[in-house]
Amino acid sequence: MAKPSIEEMAAFAKKKGLVYPSSEIYGKLAGFWDFGPQGVELKNNIKRLFWKRFVWEREDIVGIDGAIITHPRVWEASGHTEKFNDIMLVCTGCKEKYRADLLIADVLGKDVDGVPIERIDHIIENERLACPKCNKSLSKGAAFNLMFETNVGAGKDPKSVAYLRPETAQVIFTDFKQVLDTARVRLPFGIAQTGKAFRNEISPRDFLFRSREFEQFEIEFFVDGKKKDDCPLLADVADLTVAVLFDGAKEAETITFKELVARKKAGPWHAYWLAGFCQFFLDYGIRPESLRLREHAKDELAHYAAACFDIEYRFPSGWKEIHGNADRTTFDLDRHAEFSGKELAYFDEETREKVRPYVASEPSQGIERALLAFLYEAYDDDKERGNIVLRFHPQLAPTKVAVFPLVGKLDAEARKVFGTLRKAFVAQFDRSGSIGRRYARADELGIPYCVTVDFEGLEDGTVTVRDRETTAQARVRTRELAEVLGRLLEGGIAFSALMKE
Ligand code: GLY
Repeated sequence: MAKPSIEEMAAFAKKKGLVYPSSEIYGKLAGFWDFGPQGVELKNNIKRLFWKRFVWEREDIVGIDGAIITHPRVWEASGHTEKFNDIMLVCTGCKEKYRADLLIADVLGKDVDGVPIERIDHIIENERLACPKCNKSLSKGAAFNLMFETNVGAGKDPKSVAYLRPETAQVIFTDFKQVLDTARVRLPFGIAQTGKAFRNEISPRDFLFRSREFEQFEIEFFVDGKKKDDCPLLADVADLTVAVLFDGAKEAETITFKELVARKKAGPWHAYWLAGFCQFFLDYGIRPESLRLREHAKDELAHYAAACFDIEYRFPSGWKEIHGNADRTTFDLDRHAEFSGKELAYFDEETREKVRPYVASEPSQGIERALLAFLYEAYDDDKERGNIVLRFHPQLAPTKVAVFPLVGKLDAEARKVFGTLRKAFVAQFDRSGSIGRRYARADELGIPYCVTVDFEGLEDGTVTVRDRETTAQARVRTRELAEVLGRLLEGGIAFSALMKE
């Protein structure tokens, strides 16, 4: 099934009110995107489903919502001020700026993510890599810090400089002691947060994939370092299989999460959380063949990580990261304890010992990347129907139901139905064009169910419900409609069961 290129997807998303280029009336600002009426619902659904599964449904995770701007010392302690850099190249002719690893990947097809500046310079020289725009030579690589700076307060002096957070994770570490003191948590436990993060990307590109403002859902999962190989929950996911591209391998191998641990590629908690997020993607519609894990090479690891795997999705342009998951050790709590002078420790009641908790897994989920993967997976240019169908999982679908009067005369009756349904679901009313055209419009927004009010129904108190997936139709009693739709959307009944009634 042909899927659109990333540019075609951006155009489609704009046309359907999912995602707009930000500040477009002023000529756009690269790397910033706005979510339209459909997009905001889709994004909120994704965030809510992550939160529901990984916070509400668990006893061992609590949530926080921290500030975007924090004390600047946070970023000194975390290492971001010094190390959160990309390597920039500047054209000596046209002055165009390039992110070195992306340029080398594009032109030479080499993956040099995380490679030091000296090796980048060596590759550029050896391969005689020039500016793709004007063919002039490129500068030597220079470290470019990705954090956005701002000033706090009235004075714009060096002392007032602060940063927009480049990851939500640090607020979890700086609030760690407060959560410990107030939330009655016991190791092992996690703290989750969802919210905005900002990175001043040198080359924002690929639509939502590499933007300068985005949202993350992150968990820091803390364990006692001495017991980090003890994960009773691994048994729940041990037999789930996944394709894994190990560092240095050409092909992915399909193995179980139990084997991932047995081969000492990931610690048990690390594997457990990777499995949890893979399962999430599978449950909400990503096909197993579109998902894999990729192991980070040692020289690719972030400065805080002892090990890291990405969950990758197969986009039309190739496999790309949609989730990062690192073993973050005690690095962050050690550094914040050192820089703040505060004791960031957990008191183990049993052993009467103080423990510096170890982050065995940091699931770091980009919300927009998840959205893009779900959008690609759902996108179906259905030649038989003659229109695009967004085959979203019903829980993801931005709009749940569309209500149509069969003809103009039935407007008032259909509006009554719409008025009831919109109290329970994101619903829309559509009275223009033929019913076929209205079904096609609903398909293109991924609306799972359409309700048509017709003359027959006026007499017997029913409406026609049409299923997006199959186009099958069933008559449902109007007074039971909201309840039936609720059950359909939650997976409590299959549409086919209505047709048998
Ligand atoms: N917290 C990891 C990341 O933002 O990449």
